[in-house]
Amino acid sequence: MRRHRIAVIPGDGIGKEVVPAGVAILEALARRDGGIRFDFETFDWGSDYYKTHGLMMPEDGRAKLRAFDAIFFGAVGAPDVPDHVTLWGLRLAICQSFDQYANVRPARVLPGIVSPLRDAGAKHIDWIIVRENSEGEYAGQGGRSHVGFPEEVATEVAIFTRTGVTRIMRFAFELAQSRPRRRLTVVTKSNAQRYGLVMWDEIAAEVARDFPSVKWDKMLVDAMTMRMVLKPQSLDTIVATNLHADILSDLAAALVGSLGIAPTANMNPERKFPSMFEPIHGSAFDIMGKGIANPLGAFWSASLMLEHLGEKDAALLLMRAVERVTADPHLHTPDLGGHATTKDVTDAVLAAVNGHNE
Ligand code: IPM
Ligand code: MG
Repeated sequence: MRRHRIAVIPGDGIGKEVVPAGVAILEALARRDGGIRFDFETFDWGSDYYKTHGLMMPEDGRAKLRAFDAIFFGAVGAPDVPDHVTLWGLRLAICQSFDQYANVRPARVLPGIVSPLRDAGAKHIDWIIVRENSEGEYAGQGGRSHVGFPEEVATEVAIFTRTGVTRIMRFAFELAQSRPRRRLTVVTKSNAQRYGLVMWDEIAAEVARDFPSVKWDKMLVDAMTMRMVLKPQSLDTIVATNLHADILSDLAAALVGSLGIAPTANMNPERKFPSMFEPIHGSAFDIMGKGIANPLGAFWSASLMLEHLGEKDAALLLMRAVERVTADPHLHTPDLGGHATTKDVTDAVLAAVNGHNE
């Protein structure tokens, strides 16, 4: 029996709807496989916890998570708690203390889903965005002085270290090398940001020497948005800074049909710490409680988690089930222009998982 200990953190809003659906799918996959066992432990951390305890997670939260093989996460954010509190108190606290420096965001047009791009090339979008996830614009460096006075000053400092940039570049080149097209686009803004991002370009060129089979090019982030829209088929693997990739990954999610489908892996590639898997979408309070959240982003994230745990067959089986469901427009949730509910989609994926005999 292959046993995997999974920490489950549904968090806020629709995280509490899509994560339990994901757990049900994982349980079904384990039953079907017979050789997998998941030990789930659910943690009620998030904004409700904060309102009672004054913290997004308990002081010993990270110590508790340390022992797990992976973390399955929903979303954080509530209308009545400042976003920077929810984010830094839970999600970024986990990403940073577990050195999950590689954020991996696949974007692919799944069967049955219509991309808003009229360009036929959009059908062929199959990208992986690698987001630097530990430093850059999210390093947490900065401060405010003379608060409230006219002379108030605030700084927000982006940090780029040689170690940090080299390791994300290596990760991205390795990933690009493992994919059939062996293409990598390195995104910067090194015309305007002349220190950190010039170093980023230099390190990309250094690391590239170790990957002669990877065809790579550089793009400025503004021009990159146009290329994603106008020549989507020219891209494959993409690496960018924390903030640039944050923005590009929302664009990517829109281009492949919906933010509701997009998955993320926050990886500690050395496996010293657990990695964390979550849908890209947020807590979406506007649709919370309506039962219409798209659970596919959580399911795709669960598939990435299975891959990370070495369960390649189950990961593939789950993606096939997801694709079978997206192919049927009756099973599209409102974010995809349909009328299906979270439960309809979950039941259909469960049925596909159970009925899939290969
Ligand atoms: C994401 C999100 C987060 C981020 C938000 C919730 C702060 O947009 O995962 O892309 O910017 O990292
Ligand atoms: Mg984002």
